[in-house]
Amino acid sequence: MKAIVQTTFGSARDVLKLTEINTPTPDKADVLVKVHAASIHIGDYYTIAGLPYVMRPMFSSMRAKNRVPGMDIAGTVEAVGEEVTDFQPGDEVFGSYKGGFAEYACFPERTLARKPDNLTFSQASTLGVSALTALQALRDQGKVEPGQKVLITGASGGVGTFAVQIARTLGAEVTGVCSTRNMEMVRSIGADHVIDYSEEDFTEGDRRYDFIFDNVGSHSLSQTRRALTPTGRLLGNGAQVGGWFGGLTDPIAALVSSLFVSGQCRPFVSTSNPEDLASLKELAEAGKLVPVLDKSYPLSDTPDAITHVGEGHAQGKTVLTVDTADA
Ligand SMILES: NC(=O)c1ccc[n+]([C@@H]2O[C@H](COP(=O)([O-])OP(=O)(O)OC[C@H]3O[C@@H](n4cnc5c(N)ncnc54)[C@H](OP(=O)(O)O)[C@@H]3O)[C@@H](O)[C@H]2O)c1
Repeated sequence: MKAIVQTTFGSARDVLKLTEINTPTPDKADVLVKVHAASIHIGDYYTIAGLPYVMRPMFSSMRAKNRVPGMDIAGTVEAVGEEVTDFQPGDEVFGSYKGGFAEYACFPERTLARKPDNLTFSQASTLGVSALTALQALRDQGKVEPGQKVLITGASGGVGTFAVQIARTLGAEVTGVCSTRNMEMVRSIGADHVIDYSEEDFTEGDRRYDFIFDNVGSHSLSQTRRALTPTGRLLGNGAQVGGWFGGLTDPIAALVSSLFVSGQCRPFVSTSNPEDLASLKELAEAGKLVPVLDKSYPLSDTPDAITHVGEGHAQGKTVLTVDTADA
């Protein structure tokens, strides 16, 4: 099969190669998926680049050399291991694991769910890391309740476009922070209010929020907390990643702060599980979660797609169409 293979850490255009490799064989609890589409999130860019450098030993356990990157896919089940009970060949699925930028991928059964009937494979491939992060952040970290005021920064990005929609389904009054060119899009996916960060600094305004989901990290925690109500909660989910430690200092500061400051959430890493994948499917089928698609690239152009996402100006989700006939 054709797959994108990473040769070492570095720029996607230097270290990713479209290569012919063996199709994986499903283990007992695995599902072999014929991938029709895969989507990219900013974490794919960081792990390919090996940023921050201090994390490389951890990324190396994912084998930088000869690793097939890619976590989020949608496709059709080709074969199943003997212990798999929920899927059979022919089922249309989506999910989040690893080795996704390829014509076939082996995913553990627990990391997959049935594809929403009303979504294309390209759309369904986006319901992985970004949507899970938005769901778990708002529901579990923010404990968002109907009527609460929620502010989401990076509202135009991969996580933010899902977060705006999910916050609405939780009954919140949603404010999205984005650039001028994205204001209409953020409004169109359900934001009640939109703040153009090039015109207004939300930390200096009069409005106060019950939950701030910060996907950018352009302000210090104490600056951002100024915009909270007295009982409000702040989840810092964005960081300026780069160099040796960039991207780690913010979560460490949030962790320390969470021990002393009420309302400061601990940093969290989203996890894939069947229940939350099923929740995303339900929301999509109810028309409450519509993926916003940015650019689409063929599998062979994965290095360009990763470079695009790495530039940090995503408008929703960037997709790889692996099998153009079905995506
Ligand atoms: N906790 C977890 O498990 C988890 C999982 C996934 C992602 N994350 C983190 O979540 C963050 C967001 O990820 P993502 O995938 O959504 O990133 P993304 O797709 O690259 O989106 C970032 C968005 O932020 C916008 N932006 C840039 N500067 C801004 C500012 N000052 N104010 C408001 N918006 C701004 C960008 O558009 P413009 O430049 O055009 O404004 C872009 O649309 C990242 O730091 C990522 O590492 C955490």
